[in-house]
Amino acid sequence: MITEKHNKSMQPKKGSIIVILSLGIIIAFITSSGKTGKKHDDSKIYLPAALNANLNSQAPDTLPLLSIMTKLERDVNKISAGIWRHDFQMIKKGAKNIANHAKIPPRQVKLIKAILGPDQFKNFVKTDQRVHQKAVEIAKMADKQKLDLTTELFLEMERGCISCHVDHRNKIVSSDNW
Ligand code: HEC
Repeated sequence: MITEKHNKSMQPKKGSIIVILSLGIIIAFITSSGKTGKKHDDSKIYLPAALNANLNSQAPDTLPLLSIMTKLERDVNKISAGIWRHDFQMIKKGAKNIANHAKIPPRQVKLIKAILGPDQFKNFVKTDQRVHQKAVEIAKMADKQKLDLTTELFLEMERGCISCHVDHRNKIVSSDNW
């Protein structure tokens, strides 16, 4: 339809047709990735960027690690505030934000890998995954409105945050290359 309109209103130009066609392909691609995103299980936390954006449209694809951390802190505080107020919507929001947090830019991932070495890097990734997983579980438990179990999961998640700080943070931050 769009192509016809353009053809009538102006002399058909090869260039504009190509632009319209490629726009169509891009839109079709976005729409189809949106559909698969809806079917996606929440527990699969490592989604390709397009699907991740679909779950939480505010989450950018990548952010520097320090910015990710500042956001994580804010969302942990949100969950905590929700727990004190028995506000399960607030808990769920904070947990979902954590589960969908932005990815570390590839440049920083490489750097972290170089600083930590392969074994510690594996542990770094595992700890990050544990925090993700707990955040997904917190959101699910908040849906069931079980404050005690939600709180237990929250404390387990915080232990994950802290264990990465204890094990890896100093080494990364004190590196001359960081
Ligand atoms: C896999 C490792 C890892 C996990 C998991 C992790 N962090 Fe961090 N965090 C770091 C590293 C590394 C830094 C240092 C970043 C820097 O200074 O550039 C950091 C720094 C921080 C900072 C300090 C920011 C500042 O202004 O100096 C906060 C706050 C923080 N993290 C919160 C959290 C919270 C909350 C969680 C859990 C929801 C968490 N982190 C999970 C690795 C991790």
